[in-house]
Amino acid sequence: MKTFHTVQELREALTSERQHGHRIALVPTMGNLHEGHISLVEAAKQHADIIVATVFVNPLQFGPNEDLDTYPRTLDADKTQLSAAGCHYLLAPSVEEVYPDGQATQTQVSVPGVTELYCGASRPGHFDGVTTVVCKLFSMVQPDVALFGEKDFQQLFVIRKMTRDLCMPIDIVGVPIKRNAKGLALSSRNGYLSKSQLETATILNQTLKALKDQLIADIEPRDQLLKKAQEALEAAGFTRDYLVLARQSDLQPAQPDDTDLVILAAAFMGQTRLIDNIAFRL
Ligand code: PAJ
Repeated sequence: MKTFHTVQELREALTSERQHGHRIALVPTMGNLHEGHISLVEAAKQHADIIVATVFVNPLQFGPNEDLDTYPRTLDADKTQLSAAGCHYLLAPSVEEVYPDGQATQTQVSVPGVTELYCGASRPGHFDGVTTVVCKLFSMVQPDVALFGEKDFQQLFVIRKMTRDLCMPIDIVGVPIKRNAKGLALSSRNGYLSKSQLETATILNQTLKALKDQLIADIEPRDQLLKKAQEALEAAGFTRDYLVLARQSDLQPAQPDDTDLVILAAAFMGQTRLIDNIAFRL
């Protein structure tokens, strides 16, 4: 695997790949890689000849009181994992390389509507930071296909919409959530949790699974079931962010007739914000 820190170097390498007729996949990440990220690289092999990963902790998508400064930066370990997984190129740019004119004057890409819900409501401006950087990464790499995890269900939806709205000739592929043996969705932020918090954190997924079964069994009104699940999370030690039932087609709150559904949840364990989701069909 070749690692580049500038866009120019990567572009030169990719020009030659394209001349050989190779299809290029992009796997954007913020580093501190785990098996969830690596599953995107594995999936990319089914869609392209050449895999480009990016590691960039994007300041634009962090709020003023969030964990930008403490976000784990582990480039050497990331390189080892990417290389072992068969990634061909890594772009690990500096903040100046991505935002040469500074962030304040950066042209922004913004997807209206859906970005105001759920994670967007809890983290104002977050999705503008995500779509702006992903749009830039798309321009830098010009991939044929880009892979994103279903763990960030709303992010995947927003990126699909941006790509469609801006007529970008890029296939967006969603990859299933990787979980640990106890069902906890793998996340770089799990590293912030103490041993006992890690144990408790598994209750998030267990609660969503139970809620899904109850919704399918239709034993009580949906609002009641959601309220009880929220209470169960708080009783286990989570602090509330959101727990909603949305429809998959547009992520708006589910209506009684909707059948393609997704439970979306975010909750705090101490200072650490965890997210999870379960998509299902009635
Ligand atoms: P990051 O949190 O590093 O995640 C990079 C990619 O890995 C995302 O597409 C995310 O959904 C996926 N991913 C993370 N944990 C996963 C898991 N347990 N199973 C499957 N996929 C998982 O998401 C971002 O970075 C950033 O917002 C980014 C898109 C790179 C833009 O800065």
